[in-house]
Amino acid sequence: MSLKKEIERRKTFAIVSHPDAGKTTLTEKLLLFGGAIHVAGAVKSNKIKKTATSDFMEIERQRGISVATSVMGFEYNGYKVNILDTPGHQDFQEDTFRTLTAVDSVIIVIDAAKGVEPQTEKLMAVCRMRNTPVIVFVNKMDRPSEDTFMLLEEIEKQLQIKTRPLSWPINSGPDFKGVYNIHKSSLQLFQPAVQEIAKGIKINNLNDPQLEQHVGKNDADTLREELELLEGVYPPFDVKDYLDGELAPVFFGSALYNFGVQELLDSFLEIAPTPRPKAAIERVVDPYEETFSGFVFKIHANIDPNHRSRIAFVKVCSGKFERNKVYTHTRLNKTFRISSPTAFMASKKETIEEAWPGDIVGIPDTGNFVIGDTLSEGEKLHFQGMPSFSPEMFRYIENADPMRTKQLEKGIDQLMDEGVAQLFTSQFNGRKIIGCVGQLQFEVIEYRLEHEYGAKCRFESIQMHKACWIECDDQKLLHEFKLRKAQRMAKDKQGRDVFMADSAFILQMAQQDFEKIRFHFTSEF
Ligand code: G4P
Repeated sequence: MSLKKEIERRKTFAIVSHPDAGKTTLTEKLLLFGGAIHVAGAVKSNKIKKTATSDFMEIERQRGISVATSVMGFEYNGYKVNILDTPGHQDFQEDTFRTLTAVDSVIIVIDAAKGVEPQTEKLMAVCRMRNTPVIVFVNKMDRPSEDTFMLLEEIEKQLQIKTRPLSWPINSGPDFKGVYNIHKSSLQLFQPAVQEIAKGIKINNLNDPQLEQHVGKNDADTLREELELLEGVYPPFDVKDYLDGELAPVFFGSALYNFGVQELLDSFLEIAPTPRPKAAIERVVDPYEETFSGFVFKIHANIDPNHRSRIAFVKVCSGKFERNKVYTHTRLNKTFRISSPTAFMASKKETIEEAWPGDIVGIPDTGNFVIGDTLSEGEKLHFQGMPSFSPEMFRYIENADPMRTKQLEKGIDQLMDEGVAQLFTSQFNGRKIIGCVGQLQFEVIEYRLEHEYGAKCRFESIQMHKACWIECDDQKLLHEFKLRKAQRMAKDKQGRDVFMADSAFILQMAQQDFEKIRFHFTSEF
């Protein structure tokens, strides 16, 4: 098949949600419908349950599973679908943000009863940064839920995106009768079945008497009224607005009961974007270019403690990737021949000969790759869009076993390359500071340093509010700032200047006193 045909049949996306809204259930059902698995329950949840925050064996077990489920590829109706898994636990949200740089679109799952939750808002903010097209799936309609119009309003307001329902629910909870597919004028009656796919009933239009027969007069009348109102409020669905990231089509269903999932999948395949151009510092790279390029968005290390094994996950951005071909690693300015690249099909991992834009290739690595690295056929390219966000929690990391200093340094270095947390080095006292999003990350670092590198660490608390990357056109002023704030200056892992503000007030004062200095809260600016 030609490059063009391969690109046009690929859909690479992520499913994201606030924990417990149903991301894992929906992923599993899509795999079930796509024929990638045959029974529900075959894909194990890789989420770390909230109750298990200190259960390290559980974390290790999950890490093993999460390699297998990191990318779930399957063939469906001529399409190659790649679902990229994201960690459910909010302490690992940076990992999710990075995965979002490797997808062409996103499905956001919302719990119908809970509406938009905090993590949904954060995830949407990341999608908005790159204009990633988003579809909303309102899940758990089998449970009593908010009024549909109110819910849509809430989504628009809190997620800051226009919505357009493409299906409409008939009641919710115990009275839930099904959804009407506005797009296809068909009625899907709710039949709770965990393993089966509900069949749709085609009706000619809303006045078709079949509607009454199936849902009763009252609900048929309400549906007609609501849809009339809907057509008055919402303009017709324009796929371009969706592809530009300005409008989110909304579907309703119940992932647990296989309901509304088929429609979601079919509509998704119809409208979701194929691999999109990707910006590098040098230029925008088009997927249809003949030469291969790709970037590392995730590294999974030391799954087997007996082998120092790492897998770098590379998203193919352009051209055809071929096994055993020589590619250039831009940052190291070195060439590599990749002899055993792997692809991920459902929960299987297999060696592949080739891959196309949109695909994810697993590359066995001995420490040459860090997140954000670019591979190409010789052209110097640096793909953008791998921002680190200012962490929310900070601790000094200290060596607790002086005999194992080297191991500790190597461990910290590799874990940071993997993106487990962020490292800053104080320019005042030389101490290393770890920045995290959640407490669980510190626990994972301590555990992994001990079990994978044989090193012991100790964390010490530190008064810190935010890390801001700073820059200024006036070098003299920048120097003056650094002198004035010498106790609070640090370098990140790439050697960039970071101001570690100890409180919101101090930060505000610094911004006021040094108006010409730009303070950035993500590492990419
Ligand atoms: P997450 O990945 O977003 O964190 O959510 P997950 O799919 O694990 O779902 C969270 C809980 O919600 C699970 O129940 C799951 O069975 C339930 N659930 C998912 N979709 C639906 C739905 O459409 N309707 C209803 N009623 N429930 C749904 P749990 O008890 O936490 O886990 P489990 O023991 O069932 O696995």
